[in-house]
Amino acid sequence: MLKTPDMLLFFCLVGAAAALHKQWIPDTNYENKTNWDKENVPCGNDIVQFPAQRKVSVFVETMHAVQEMKLPVDGEFILNSGAGFYVVRGQDSGCGAGVTTQFKDSESLQWFNPALWQAAATLDDLQRGNFLFSVHEESVPCQYDDVVFKARSSFRVDTSSSQSSIPVKSVSVLGKKFDSGSEFSHYLSSRSGQLQFQGSSAFSIGNQECGDPSGCDCGNSVNHQQICNSVTCASLSCKKPLLPVGHCCDVCGAIVTVQYAAGFNLQTYRQRIHHLFLVLPQYNSIQLGMSKVFKSQRLMGVIPSGTSPEIQVLILDGEKGTLSEVLARDIVKDAHSHGPNLGITGAEFQASSGSSSDQTGGSAGMVAGVVFGVLIMITLIIIMVVLIRKGVIQTPSSLPSLSSFMKSSDVTDLGGPLDHGFDNPIFDQPNMLPDIPVVYATETNNSISMTQTGVHFVNPVYDENETDFNA
Ligand SMILES: *[C@@H]1O[C@H](CO)[C@@H](O)[C@H](O)[C@H]1NC(C)=O
Repeated sequence: MLKTPDMLLFFCLVGAAAALHKQWIPDTNYENKTNWDKENVPCGNDIVQFPAQRKVSVFVETMHAVQEMKLPVDGEFILNSGAGFYVVRGQDSGCGAGVTTQFKDSESLQWFNPALWQAAATLDDLQRGNFLFSVHEESVPCQYDDVVFKARSSFRVDTSSSQSSIPVKSVSVLGKKFDSGSEFSHYLSSRSGQLQFQGSSAFSIGNQECGDPSGCDCGNSVNHQQICNSVTCASLSCKKPLLPVGHCCDVCGAIVTVQYAAGFNLQTYRQRIHHLFLVLPQYNSIQLGMSKVFKSQRLMGVIPSGTSPEIQVLILDGEKGTLSEVLARDIVKDAHSHGPNLGITGAEFQASSGSSSDQTGGSAGMVAGVVFGVLIMITLIIIMVVLIRKGVIQTPSSLPSLSSFMKSSDVTDLGGPLDHGFDNPIFDQPNMLPDIPVVYATETNNSISMTQTGVHFVNPVYDENETDFNA
């Protein structure tokens, strides 16, 4: 299973577009049991009732027997070829005693409810049920997505929004794809359109495809509040719950953060993770969502310095997050060993158990270490320059670059032993370290002395003989 270089190459070639297909799950189909208050499709002995004041569009797939039917004031049936109704005389065998069954109220299903959408990379994947998991904001169609209402299906969606319009790339209704604004507004003003779409917001259709292979910003952060209003968060039992960007709830699991450069392709990477890990049996309870997010950067962890895009990989396992953490480590390891080929420049993870890649020597720790190292070096250089300026320090004439700083040139070449590096000034006093080499002891008059091969200095604060130094 892990031997997949050919497959990965294949996916590199096809995985160009970063937009997803988002399909509306609920329907108002006659044949869907869940649409009836008795949880059953009515049969020949039943009285069928549609709420009088409800506007409804109902797709009927086949022929149905009914006893009696009460229709709404405003509504429509969309009949598949061969579909229809007939009235049974007498008793319909194969049907119960006969009840009055009502078509359920489908008035209040919100476009911005993330539970009512499923996402897939392609139409084919939608059909085959290869759905993608994502954070709440991205479960609802993003500005570059293709929106799909199932082909043989009716629906009613409330598009009320706090924004004036809902931008998407295209909308498919009953098998017809609309990707131009004028065409779709024409459809919306039709009878079917008015029964299917309810609410204040207009659509802006025909958005450009996401042109960036590394993915695009979903654009739903403006709808965050509205999206989260329909989400109920579960109670959690892990030590340090995480809050992923674009999600409504804290989660138990892990978040991998991937930094990328030119050449990174989100769709290809999503497929890579799927084929390397998610297909493995031990990971079949895992939900993994990948998205481009904008995190505010902080210089040294304090000073805000703008936002930078990165890839957030959210991993959930439906439990405490232990399995998520195992997968997160695998993903970070893969990113570190194959990063350059994938356009990945760094990866780290955080888990709800409290552990993170910082503790395992990840790149974040390394970067922080390097930054601090450089800062310490700069501080030391500044201190040295200041000391040289003040004449506290003497440099040998054999170091022309340093002696050029000096005004007076009373420099003695001390020619000390081979020694690379700094000595800790605290220990550089003879009385504190009695077994110090003789050459150090003779230098106690100089707070800092330079040899051809190294620099030694004594902190003047600790040096009682400071007044002797200008000699
Ligand atoms: C019936 O409707 C429910 C909820 O709206 C949906 O989850 C389910 O997929 C539908 N069933 C079929 C067969 O389409």
